[in-house]
Amino acid sequence: MRWLSPLVFLLCGVSLLTACDNMAKQPRDKTWTPANGNSANAEPDRKIWPPQPAPNAIAREDRPQPPPALTPALLARGKERYEIYCTPCHGYLGDGDGMIVRRGFPQPPSFHDEALRNAPTRHFYEVATNGWGAMYSYADRVRSDDRWAIAAYIRALQTSQNTAAAELPETVRGTLR
Ligand code: HEC
Repeated sequence: MRWLSPLVFLLCGVSLLTACDNMAKQPRDKTWTPANGNSANAEPDRKIWPPQPAPNAIAREDRPQPPPALTPALLARGKERYEIYCTPCHGYLGDGDGMIVRRGFPQPPSFHDEALRNAPTRHFYEVATNGWGAMYSYADRVRSDDRWAIAAYIRALQTSQNTAAAELPETVRGTLR
């Protein structure tokens, strides 16, 4: 095995030389060269200036919106946003048993409690906007119009859990088990 160490030495030497060669040739940006197509390394259509907001970022100018008209599209949007932002604590039905509550986070009240069923829809919008006690504000994550959509969906959740069977339309009543 005496031939082994000279061989390893040789291989290391060769690889070092090749590495140096590659480093000397690799493209690089010079300090402060704009990346919009002027330097060898730039991706031609990627502009770094002016900075672009991330998709779905909330604009700093996002202003409170008046409540939008109640439509199926608004409820669908509200359901989607609610399930993303509120279910971790409030749960899919709004009972307050979301996944992180089951893991020890303070438990929010159920949306089906008397007080919250009697609260105006604006209250849900405002809690999402300003926070409430242990719950922080969602104004920097959920746009104003989406907070209204969520408030409308919470109303729908409340209705879904607190409607007497006799009040349901005939067609729906037939499907109950
Ligand atoms: C990280 C957990 C968490 C998330 C996520 C969360 N909440 Fe809450 N929420 C709470 C807790 C905890 C309370 C109770 C706070 C207290 O009473 O100190 C609460 C309370 C509330 C209340 C009741 C206020 C009252 O009058 O008692 C409403 C309404 C509410 N949250 C709406 C929302 C909406 C809408 C979202 C989604 C945009 C949301 N929450 C997301 C934890 C959360």
